[in-house]
Amino acid sequence: MDIRLLVIGMLIPLLALKLSLNEAVIFKFTNVVCENHNKTWITVHWCRLRAISRNKTTFNLNVTLNYPVDHPVNIRGQLLQKANGYKPWLFSANIDACRFMKRAYNPLAILVFKLFKEFSNFNHSCPYVGPIIIQDFYLRVDKIPNAMPTGDYLLVLAFSFSKKPQITTKVYFVFVEDLL
Ligand SMILES: *[C@@H]1O[C@H](CO)[C@@H](O)[C@H](O)[C@H]1NC(C)=O
Ligand SMILES: *[C@@H]1O[C@H](CO)[C@@H](O)[C@H](O)[C@H]1NC(C)=O
Ligand SMILES: *[C@@H]1O[C@H](CO)[C@@H](O)[C@H](O)[C@H]1NC(C)=O
Ligand SMILES: *[C@@H]1O[C@H](CO)[C@@H](O)[C@H](O)[C@H]1NC(C)=O
Repeated sequence: MDIRLLVIGMLIPLLALKLSLNEAVIFKFTNVVCENHNKTWITVHWCRLRAISRNKTTFNLNVTLNYPVDHPVNIRGQLLQKANGYKPWLFSANIDACRFMKRAYNPLAILVFKLFKEFSNFNHSCPYVGPIIIQDFYLRVDKIPNAMPTGDYLLVLAFSFSKKPQITTKVYFVFVEDLL
């Protein structure tokens, strides 16, 4: 069989799938929780969602770091999918945030950072002190490389600095591919 025909034959359904997914998909936050483990160091003013429309919610975070946060800042990230409770799925990563801000690495971290960086004031190198803001952040399908299976997801990011867990954010979201 002609290899080009085979490739085209495989690409067309994939493209059609991608197009229909982009047209009819729900990709939105359903809940957020910020667990502050050190209220001396961190003040969480708000960590909440706003419903904009049936298929759009925005995540708004306003945190003050009362003391400087510098290297090493460890972020343990886990992406879980719901199936009789949340079970580990696909990704788990440990990154050094200060190193990441100097030069991005790790595919999951790059993907997550790409999704929210323009809504935040994070884009600078360590140290961090004072306001940490994420404003009107919403999920966009065109920012992810591939469609995910329909499901409920949870992204847990546990931040440790001074070698202790200091804050954990839990971001719940839904991805629905509607192929009708
Ligand atoms: C999402 O909601 C907006 C406004 O309510 C609407 O225009 C758009 O078609 C909706 N998109 C999907 C995929 O449902
Ligand atoms: C909480 O933060 C304060 C201020 O930075 C720090 O001195 C203290 O060690 C931290 N506590 C823990 C358990 O990390
Ligand atoms: C964050 O909260 C503080 C304290 O309530 C407030 O002064 C500040 O204006 C807020 N920042 C933003 C961007 O809303
Ligand atoms: C921060 O923003 C600058 C300028 O927009 C960009 O060149 C740089 O790559 C960004 N850094 C990260 C870690 O995204």
